[in-house]
Amino acid sequence: MIAGKLIGVGTGPGDPELLTMKAVIRIVAAEVIAYPTLADRDSFARSIVEQHIPTGAREIRVEVPMSVEREPAQLAYDTGAAEISAVLSAGTDVVFLCEGDPLFYGSFMYLLDRLCPDFDVEVVPGITSFTAATASLALPLVSRNDILAVIPGPIDSEQLKTRISSSDATIIMKVGRHLPKIRDAIDALGLLEHATYVERASLSAERTMPLSEAPESAPYFSMILVTKGSDPWLKNR
Ligand SMILES: C[S@@+](CC[C@H](N)C(=O)[O-])C[C@H]1O[C@@H](n2cnc3c(N)ncnc32)[C@H](O)[C@@H]1O
Repeated sequence: MIAGKLIGVGTGPGDPELLTMKAVIRIVAAEVIAYPTLADRDSFARSIVEQHIPTGAREIRVEVPMSVEREPAQLAYDTGAAEISAVLSAGTDVVFLCEGDPLFYGSFMYLLDRLCPDFDVEVVPGITSFTAATASLALPLVSRNDILAVIPGPIDSEQLKTRISSSDATIIMKVGRHLPKIRDAIDALGLLEHATYVERASLSAERTMPLSEAPESAPYFSMILVTKGSDPWLKNR
């Protein structure tokens, strides 16, 4: 029997209109759809594509706990990979949904890592959250020879300052409860007026504002953009 294929599908940042045609084509053809989710919660990735999921498709929830310790999450990926492996071995493809792009801080990579030695894999890229954020703001991100850094909010203050000061533009992901620390670091660099906060980009609940006006506590789906406006040819920025 020919084994099934693992298909990682990026679902984009939240607005269902930001799905790619290929993502929709793979989802409507799926017999089995898997996705990461928290226990007792709806999956964000699934909610984005819900209208395209075929009636009767089998769904595999990979329940990944959100904890600082990584072992519980890795065990959840082991369990999910075993369930998906059984389906693939029986000759059926599995579409694994991943919010944004699957290989940009995406949980799909943990399934890919476990299953790619044994099964064919296809990855359908998705529109990533930071391009949705810059689009919402109509904010030029980098031009000419600008250097862009993408950094996670949980890193310590000194690392934040080092990375931000050595780049022309910075995207800070996974802001959440780290917002006050990140804001202090940006303020200490004298860059507060160049920093923008974006929450739930592309969704109807989207909020954007100068970082100086952002709430103390940010949701998980939020980021901060620092653009220094160093290109002299962009005169109105
Ligand atoms: C595990 S990463 C997933 C990134 C995703 N694969 C992508 O391509 O954007 C989760 C982080 O992405 C960012 N994020 C994802 N979707 C977002 C959105 N719609 N608005 C703002 N930030 C978002 C947040 O910083 C969040 O903490």
